[in-house]
Amino acid sequence: MTAHINPSILSADFANFESEFATITDADAVHVDVMDGHFVPNLTFGLPVVRRLIEISTLPIDVHLMIENVDTLAVGYADAGAASVTFHQEASKTPIELARALKGAGSKAAIAVKPGTGLNFVLDHLNEFDMVLVMTVEPGFGGQRFMPEMMDKVRTARAEIVRLGLDIRLQVDGGIDENTIEIASAAGADTFVAGSSIFSKSDRNQQIRTLREVANRNFGN
Ligand code: DX5
Ligand code: ZN
Repeated sequence: MTAHINPSILSADFANFESEFATITDADAVHVDVMDGHFVPNLTFGLPVVRRLIEISTLPIDVHLMIENVDTLAVGYADAGAASVTFHQEASKTPIELARALKGAGSKAAIAVKPGTGLNFVLDHLNEFDMVLVMTVEPGFGGQRFMPEMMDKVRTARAEIVRLGLDIRLQVDGGIDENTIEIASAAGADTFVAGSSIFSKSDRNQQIRTLREVANRNFGN
């Protein structure tokens, strides 16, 4: 396992994405938070902007959809060339069909659960997904406090991935910094979204390398 570090551009300068991307070249992917002001109480941008982000990025784009109507809207992001598209279980009426459609459109398919949502559905259908995202804050805003109580879900998901021998990633998102990444990697997460703890630094690539090193050292401990 090599930890993946995906900076969230929710904490970047929205008027200068091109120059912001140049400061995070050591990342594994760029995490792009799409919010609609309904599924979460915050609004960012939609498909036209993400399409341009995909065009200007040299790194894969990891789209995190915090929107309603994913069953109709999500495939557009896969068609646009997103490397992975994550939708929330809470927003989808037909998650299995949606995961298959995303993969059919050439992207990886990921399912996310909010802090209040259990893992039963995800565990019952793990083989349908390329990645599972366990939210470690209530989705909607950057800069919130990491919820260590979510580590039970991370440990449970990791145990099931190992038991089934699946080649899928286990992502955490929210409040990840050089301290909390130790806790999340020890619990079994292998893919880490970090917004404020990367973009607040003057040397963001150094912070990305530090986070990856801490995660690799603590994975599964
Ligand atoms: C929150 C978003 C996150 C957010 C993380 O709903 O999904 O990706 O940008 O920000 P930090 O790392 O600052 O908690
Ligand atoms: Zn996110």
